[in-house]
Amino acid sequence: MSETAKLIYEGKEYEIPVITGSEGEKALDISKLRGATGYITLDSGFVNTGSCKSSITFLDGEKGILRYRGYPIEQLAEHSTFLEVAYLLIYGQLPTEAEYKEFKHIVTHHTMIHEDLKRLYDGFRKDSHPMAILSSMICTLSGYYGESMDPLNERHQEISIYRLIAKTPTIAAYSFKKSIGQPFIYPKNSLSYVANFINMMFSVPTEDYYIDPVVERALDLLLILHADHEQNCSASTVRLVGSSHANIYVSVASGVNALWGPLHGGANQAVIEMLKEIHEAGGDIKKFVDKAKDKTSGFRLMGFGHRVYKNFDPRAVIIKKAADDVLTKLDIHDPLLDIAKELEEVALSDEYFLEKKLYPNVDFYSGIIYKALRIPVEMFTVMFALGRMPGWIAQWREMIYDKETKIGRPRQIFTGENKREYVKIAQRT
Ligand code: CMC
Repeated sequence: MSETAKLIYEGKEYEIPVITGSEGEKALDISKLRGATGYITLDSGFVNTGSCKSSITFLDGEKGILRYRGYPIEQLAEHSTFLEVAYLLIYGQLPTEAEYKEFKHIVTHHTMIHEDLKRLYDGFRKDSHPMAILSSMICTLSGYYGESMDPLNERHQEISIYRLIAKTPTIAAYSFKKSIGQPFIYPKNSLSYVANFINMMFSVPTEDYYIDPVVERALDLLLILHADHEQNCSASTVRLVGSSHANIYVSVASGVNALWGPLHGGANQAVIEMLKEIHEAGGDIKKFVDKAKDKTSGFRLMGFGHRVYKNFDPRAVIIKKAADDVLTKLDIHDPLLDIAKELEEVALSDEYFLEKKLYPNVDFYSGIIYKALRIPVEMFTVMFALGRMPGWIAQWREMIYDKETKIGRPRQIFTGENKREYVKIAQRT
């Protein structure tokens, strides 16, 4: 029997259907509320609002659980590869060997970008932020594949998905090469997805380039950990834009833009900048913690806090350990890692952070690893985008196939002026 909740208001009683998810989480279905009552609901920032039913990623913020398609993130981090996780997120199950081989083959053979697209990089200033380049380039792909990007055509969807997964590393690596004035390095089909990206980032045409397996594995791990996170700001943006049946390239490019903000993916760059600032100011951690607690300072501890995780972020736990491993294996001593650990310790024994349940999030330690891998700070959020690409695609695909999808169009409570008469300019005081 389906459950209902009761709303009693102004002497009238309304039945509201209760929806239960596969992990037992409950929601009140208010989609018919306005029709029945004339009222809408108000929830700034969608803190308490489910925008869709989804079977991709499960989070339990209280218990620190993250699962992609049912698989715990810890197991995927230990045993899987990014490309396999991409397949899992998009198609719903882990690929068989044959499926994986085919997927890898197709992705590998779509990594080049159109030669004309390369010329677009010349229009950017040398110091353009690579996120600006990434979103522009992904958007521009829609100008190159106009004949195959109907969001409702299954074949068009598939080819667009391959293109996005395959070309994003190339676009990202070229934006780095542009910033340092080096020639673009073409993708190499003999390399793995991640090794190919590293090669395009760091090799030069004049020399052979050795790809350190420690670097390759570390990057693969980071991409897995960033691959999806259910209805976050950028995924919701991709769904919202896509719900108008805009093509997948512009929908995903909108996700890139949403990710750029320092409260979202841009936090990984902001964390390193903050750690550097603490280091350069003599390492007085308490001063920065106090500043973060002072609401008038406008300063927050970057890499701390999360809308959903109120206990710990399971990705941060894995990344913290990986940061230790990678730095040891690469024989790097980074004082910023020491500062980060000390900062975590000080914050987590402080009443303010404990009471507000503010813990290190995915962005807190990831930058230390990126830095150890010689990825420049401006590229950190691009790395996040590279990892999040399969998640955005999976969310977009689910939205397109979902029979309940409607164009995203929230309502509002109007708080402006009531009707008033137009006053000609000469009579205005
Ligand atoms: N430092 C100091 N105080 C904080 C912080 C922080 N990092 N984060 C939240 N607070 C305080 C905040 O001032 C508020 O206090 P009060 O209740 O007294 O007004 C309380 O904690 C709740 O914060 P909120 O901003 O209402 O929470 P939210 O769910 O809207 O925001 C957040 C979540 C992640 C945007 C926020 O914690 C934040 O700004 N963190 C720093 C930026 C960051 O690390 N972002 C990456 C998020 S994880 C990866 C991703 O999503 O891309």
